[in-house]
Amino acid sequence: MSGIMGYVGHRAALPVLLEGLKRLEYRGYDSVGVGVIEAGALHIQKTIGTVQRLERQLRGLDLRSTVGIGHTRWATHGQPTLENAHPHASGRIAIVHNGIIANYLELRQELIAEGVRFASDTDSEVIAALIDRAYRGDLAAAVLAALPRLSGTYALGVICRDEPNVLLCARQAVPLVVGLGVREAFLASDVTPFAPYTQNCFFLDDGEVGILSGGGVQILDLRGQVVPKEIEHITWNPVLAEKGGYRFYMLKEIFETPQAVRETLRGRLLPGAPFVHWAERGPEADLLRTCRKVILLGCGSSYHAALIGKLYLEEIAGLATEVELGSEFRYRTPLVDRRTIVIGISQSGETADTLAGMRAARASGATIYALTNAPLSTAAREADGVLRLHAGPEISVASTKTFVAELAVLCMLALHAAHLRRRQPEAHLRELAAALGTAPAAIEAALAVEEEVEALARRYSRFDHYIVLGRGVHYPVALEAALKIKELSYVHAEGCAAGEVKQGLIALVDERVPVLVLAPQGRVYEKTLDNLEEVKARGARIVAIGTQGDVELRARAHDLLELPRLPELLSPLCSSPLVHLFAYHLALRRRRDVDHPRNLAKSVTVE
Ligand code: M6R
Repeated sequence: MSGIMGYVGHRAALPVLLEGLKRLEYRGYDSVGVGVIEAGALHIQKTIGTVQRLERQLRGLDLRSTVGIGHTRWATHGQPTLENAHPHASGRIAIVHNGIIANYLELRQELIAEGVRFASDTDSEVIAALIDRAYRGDLAAAVLAALPRLSGTYALGVICRDEPNVLLCARQAVPLVVGLGVREAFLASDVTPFAPYTQNCFFLDDGEVGILSGGGVQILDLRGQVVPKEIEHITWNPVLAEKGGYRFYMLKEIFETPQAVRETLRGRLLPGAPFVHWAERGPEADLLRTCRKVILLGCGSSYHAALIGKLYLEEIAGLATEVELGSEFRYRTPLVDRRTIVIGISQSGETADTLAGMRAARASGATIYALTNAPLSTAAREADGVLRLHAGPEISVASTKTFVAELAVLCMLALHAAHLRRRQPEAHLRELAAALGTAPAAIEAALAVEEEVEALARRYSRFDHYIVLGRGVHYPVALEAALKIKELSYVHAEGCAAGEVKQGLIALVDERVPVLVLAPQGRVYEKTLDNLEEVKARGARIVAIGTQGDVELRARAHDLLELPRLPELLSPLCSSPLVHLFAYHLALRRRRDVDHPRNLAKSVTVE
C-alpha cells in the first residue's frame, strides 16, 4: 500500500508533488519523500510522518527541477524509519514503489554479491538497483530489462539523473493513473493529485510501462511494443476535497452526510413503481427478477453496510442474501452460478480483499457489480455493472458519509428488486420509498444535537473499554460504532448483538465499561430494553440512542441521544452519523489525529 506521484513538464515539480501527496495521504502516512533532479544530480528529501512536516523541511531550499517523484508510505516490508522511506536511489536511478516484491530477498542477495550496497530494509530498493545496473543510456530500455526480474506487485515511478526530462512508470496489479496536461504529464495512485491540473487521464493496465515527458506520453507493453490507450475524463471536483473551515475532514464529512445521501438518491428514487431508475449500468431487471441469491462483499465499514444491506434485500425484496468479508471469501470456493449476483461494496473501489473476492466470484460464473464512490476505480472498471454513490470525495481515513450513502443505495436496490419480484404490496413499497426520500432531512435533524454529543463524549472519554449493543438492523450499527471508537481513539470497544451479550461478553461489564445501546423503537425494541437492563444491573452506565420522545428509554438510560422518527429499517441512516459524531468527539478529547489514525490507511490495497 502507499501512494505514489510523479510529475514532468514545464512547472517546478516540487509544489505539484507536495500538494498531490497531501491528497494521497489517505493511502498511508508512516513516512513521506520526494526526489527531483537538480543541477545534474538526484536530490532526495524524506521524513517520518506527514507531508506538512516534509514541506517545513524543504522550506528555504531553491529546488526548480521540472521532473520529480513522491511517495507517502504505509509500511509493509521494513519499519517506518527514515531509511525505509521512499524514494530509494541506486546510482543514477531513483524510484517510488507501491506494492510488494515477493522475490526481493533473492534479488538482494544477488545484487549484494555484485557489489551493490543497500541503505534500507525495504523490498523496493532492489528495483532501483536492478534498473541502474541495466542502464545503458536509455531509461525506458533499462526499466523494460529490469521488470521481468520482479515477481510480485508494483506501481512504479522512476527518474534518472542522466535523463532530466523524462519520467517512467509501470504497473503490475496495483493502481496507477497517468494524467495528460498541456506540455506536462502526471502519474499517481489515483486521479485526485492531478485533478486541479487536468481532467484527461488513462489507467495503466498490468504489464504496461509509461514513458512520460513534457512532449507527451507513450505506453509500451513489456516487449516494448506501443499500446494504444483511450483517454478518460475526470468529472470530480477538487474543491470538494478541501476542509472548508472544519478542523478535521472527518467532521466535515459527517456533516456532509445529508448531502451525500441526497445526491445519491437524486434522479434515482421515484415516488411510485418502479421506485428506482438507475442511470448507470445498474443491475439488469431480468437478473434481479430471476436471481437465486445475492452475495454482498466488503471490508471494514463497507462490510457493516453489507450486513444492513442483507436485511434490506431479505426483508424488502425477499431475496436470499449472504454477507462475506473479502479477505475470507477470496480463499474459499465460491458457491455461485450465473444466477448469483455478487456486489463488491467499497467506497474506494480499491480494497484488495474486496477486489480479490469479486474476481473469485466472477471466475466461478457469478455476475459482478461494484457499489462504489469511485467510478474510475478498479472495482468499477472490472465489474459487469456499477451502483454509484454520489457522496463526493471522502478524505478522512474513517468512512462516514460514504457508509450512509452505501445504505441508501442498498435500500434502493431492495426496493427495485421487490418491485420486479412482486414481493410486497405496492403501497408498502411506496411508503418506504417516501420515507427514504425524507432521510437526508432526518439526518440533518439528528446531527443538530452536536453539542449534546460533544458533552457526552467529554463525560465518557476517560474509559478504556466500551461496549456497543444493538439488535436486528441496529446490530451492524453497533459494530460500526465500535470500529470507529477503536480506530480513532485507540481504546477497546466491542460491538455485540444485544441478545448475545449474556453468552460471554457480560463478564466484562462493570462500572468501568460504559455501554452504548442502540434502541430505536421497532420490532426488537422491547427485547433490547431487556438486554439494556441486564448490563445496567451489572453496574454499567448506559448511553442510549433511541427514538425522539421515548420517555421509557429516557427513564432507563443514564444518557440519551434522540433520533428523528423513521421506519425501523431506515433508522441506521440516522443513527450511524450520530455514532460517527460520538466517536469523533471521543477521539478529539483524547487528542488523537482524527483524520490520520495510527497504523491505518484509507485505502487498503494490500492483502
Ligand atoms: O474503500 P472501502 O470501502 O473498500 O474500505 C473498506 C475499509 O478499509 C474501510 O471501511 C475502513 O474499515 C475504514 N477505516 C472504516 O472507518
